[in-house]
Amino acid sequence: MFPHFIYGGDYNPDQWPEATWEEDVRLMQEAGVNLVSLGIFSWSKLEPQPGVYDFEWLDRIIDLLYAHGVSIDLATPTASPPPWLVRLDPDVLPITADGVKLGLGSRRHYCPHNATYREHAARLVTQLAQRYCHHPALALWHIDNEYACHVSECFCETSASAFRQWLQARYGTLEALNATWGTAFWSQQYGDWLEIQPPRRAPAFLNPSQVLDWQRFCSDSWLACFEDQKEILREITPNVPLTTNFMSFHKPLDYWTWAAREDIVSNDAYPDTSDPEWTIGSAMACDLIRSLGKGRPWLLMEQAATHVNWRTRNATKRPGVMRLGSYQAIARGANGVMFFQWRASQFGAEKFHSAMLPHAGTETRVWREVKTLGAELKRLDGLLASEVHAKVAILFDWENWWALEQNGKLLNDLRLLPLIKSYYTALYKQGVTTDFVHPEADLSHYRLVIAPHLYLLNDRAVHNIMQYVSNGGVLIMSFFSGIVDERDHVRLGGYPAPFQEMLGMHVEEFAPYSESQTNEIHTADGRRFSCSQWSDIIRLHDAESIADYLHDYYANTPAVTRHRFGQGVSFYVGTLLDETGLSWLLDRVVTEAKVRMSPAAPIGVELIRRSDDTQTWLFALNYSTQPVEIALDRSGRDLVTGAMVDKSIVLSPTGVAIIQSALS
Ligand code: GLA
Repeated sequence: MFPHFIYGGDYNPDQWPEATWEEDVRLMQEAGVNLVSLGIFSWSKLEPQPGVYDFEWLDRIIDLLYAHGVSIDLATPTASPPPWLVRLDPDVLPITADGVKLGLGSRRHYCPHNATYREHAARLVTQLAQRYCHHPALALWHIDNEYACHVSECFCETSASAFRQWLQARYGTLEALNATWGTAFWSQQYGDWLEIQPPRRAPAFLNPSQVLDWQRFCSDSWLACFEDQKEILREITPNVPLTTNFMSFHKPLDYWTWAAREDIVSNDAYPDTSDPEWTIGSAMACDLIRSLGKGRPWLLMEQAATHVNWRTRNATKRPGVMRLGSYQAIARGANGVMFFQWRASQFGAEKFHSAMLPHAGTETRVWREVKTLGAELKRLDGLLASEVHAKVAILFDWENWWALEQNGKLLNDLRLLPLIKSYYTALYKQGVTTDFVHPEADLSHYRLVIAPHLYLLNDRAVHNIMQYVSNGGVLIMSFFSGIVDERDHVRLGGYPAPFQEMLGMHVEEFAPYSESQTNEIHTADGRRFSCSQWSDIIRLHDAESIADYLHDYYANTPAVTRHRFGQGVSFYVGTLLDETGLSWLLDRVVTEAKVRMSPAAPIGVELIRRSDDTQTWLFALNYSTQPVEIALDRSGRDLVTGAMVDKSIVLSPTGVAIIQSALS
């Protein structure tokens, strides 16, 4: 879509006197900036009074940017309604589950169902689109900002009535709703739609099916706000691509649905680089975003040049680390990296957040690193059409996430992401690139699929997974998978009921552990590993046990099983394995599925490939503080140094190489 790698950041010229703008554009040119996200929080400046618009300052800065070779990712500034809008209609402000009305003075203070907000937002977006539709600088639309950040749900009366309409459209009759919600439990049967309320704060556990529908509804409501704007923009600027910035694994929004409606998937990523394992979580976020876009190039919309200011302690990114994180995103499929923000603010809540251009100006380490990266990215245009091809996928679904983490379970502190991350980490450490995939999506091009805590799934997903294995795929399924249908009703008959035939076993009983309890497994090949959290008490049909529990009343019964099903193989893991246990399992399965990456990465180094039809680019990122030597499986040219390389390369600490080779 863009002829070059995108480089830039959020730009807020309205925080500065116009005299500063000349310096901004000059320095942007110096840094290689070619795109800025403009005006994200400019509503009150663009429309200082209802219906009174002031676009002249925006005209001037857009022209100035364009004259300096900088295109715009023009934001619809609807994430922070102006004070006059709240004065006009105080019901714009959202209400929490406890009935507290949130106040003015920060941002994202709006209810997604409020008609005043929606009307005024639509009017402003129309004005903006009409004014700039022919401007050659307009390269991308940035709709709103981080939907469902800070406020992900509103419990006001307008929201309650919108919820009822959504339910009516979904279920048609109260009878169907009562059956789905299981209202026979605790006397919750509804006789009139008006009796239905959002799941506000209640004396005890709320109806789980009701809460699940509420979560679906809230994600859809924010999406409707996005769609309002998208419709306007599509009509006025049909050829300008649009995006809205995601927040990695952000629980409130079903990003599968969202990503399908965007032209470019973009993400904001703020890893805490003081965590020695930050690169893993950060890689996982990149892989999610690439997967949401079905592998097409994505955009790192925001990252920090060094520290953020919203953690309790905000560590800097040490020299070279911002560059490593930027290349990690590119290696994992991004065609551009951007920052929050261009110039560090002098006032406001984020004045201590880092920026491309720090308070101290250009005689700074941060500025030098920003400039160096901008210059380097200009050499990468040849990669723009290349993609990352993963052979392994982790099944990931928001509805499952919502249902799994509701209370009333056996381990009410069970969380989805830690288990996903432990599988992801084991794969990462074995040099395996992983996609995330929706359980109903086509799995046929993966050699290995992992289903961690896939508690909720509908019949289509069940069928899809079974077909995948039966056609020759390798699957690992963890405990507490295949438990309920999309209504959150238990699938009866021994867990996981729909997969017994595929797994060749069933779970007779769950044995969740107390906090201090642990157990061990011993494997058929003579190893011993500790396990925690939970044991499934498994009855084999025709699966084999490859590891048994060592202790407790179910000692010597299966903990990990393997079963041939059709042309494929399914593994089942009935407990939480420790790191070494998981790496034992993954080592075995990765070998069986033949998905190991070549060449092998030394410790502290990440190796990732992008390729197109004729060439491949091997990204080597040295996160360690030592020089490392990497054996290569093909010769090529390192795009960072320009040198030809053969057999091996040596990377300095924080070093990066991008080796371009022909595909033979
Ligand atoms: C988010 C927002 C930005 C800014 C940064 C700070 O990503 O989109 O406006 O607040 O966080 O890290």
